[in-house]
Amino acid sequence: MIKIAPSILSADFAKMGDAVRAVKSADMIHCDVMDGHFVPNISFGHKMVKDVRRVTQLPLDVHLMIENPEKYLDIFIAAGADYVVIHLESTDKIDFCLDKIRAAGRKCGVAISPDTPVRSLAPYITKCDLALLMSVYPGFSGQSFLYGSLERLTELKALRDKINKSCLIEIDGGIDEANITEVARCGADIVVGGKAVFGGEYPAERVELLRNLCK
Ligand code: DX5
Ligand code: ZN
Repeated sequence: MIKIAPSILSADFAKMGDAVRAVKSADMIHCDVMDGHFVPNISFGHKMVKDVRRVTQLPLDVHLMIENPEKYLDIFIAAGADYVVIHLESTDKIDFCLDKIRAAGRKCGVAISPDTPVRSLAPYITKCDLALLMSVYPGFSGQSFLYGSLERLTELKALRDKINKSCLIEIDGGIDEANITEVARCGADIVVGGKAVFGGEYPAERVELLRNLCK
C-alpha cells in the first residue's frame, strides 16, 4: 500500500498545529527544509520540526534542501526527525551523513534533483532506507510535475529492486489526482503531496482521495 506524505510547506504556517492534526490519516509528515543556497527559497529550520513533533505521532520525513547537510544533522535528529533525507548534489560527504543518521537510530535517505542521473544513486541504495526522486526542481511547492519523472521512477525502481528491496522509493513534486495513479503504477512507495493536500479547505479528504487513486 502506497504511503501518503503531506508536505507542510503548503500549509498555513500560522496554523501549523491544526494542519498537521488534520492529516492524521496520512502515513508520514514531509518537512521541506530550504536554506536559500542549495535552492532559491528559504522555508524553515529545526524549530518547525521540533514543534510539529509535539502535535503528531506520525513519522517525520525531513527533506533537507540545504548545502553542507553534515553540519546540521544533529539538530534535526534532536528535533525528532524519523527520516533524514539529504540531497546527493548538496555535499561530498554522503557516506558520512548516512552513517551518522543511522548511528543515531534514524532512517536515512538520499534525494536527487531532476537533472541528476538516477544511476548516481546506485552506490548509496544499499545503506539507504529511502531514495527520493524529485519530480520538480526543488525549491517551491505548487509546480507542475515533470513528466520525464515517470521514466526516471521506473529506472529507479529497477535499480532498487536489484540492489536493496527494503529501500523505499519516494517521489516529490507536482503530484496530484491527475498523475498519482500512474506514479503509483511506476513503483513509488511514498508520494509527497503539497498543494494537492493543503491547497484546498479539506486536507483530510484530499489524503483519502489521493490514496484511493493509488489502489
Ligand atoms: C519542493 C519540495 C516538495 C514540495 C511539494 O522543493 O521538496 O516537497 O513542497 O509540493 P507540491 O506537491 O505542491 O509540488
Ligand atoms: Zn520535499
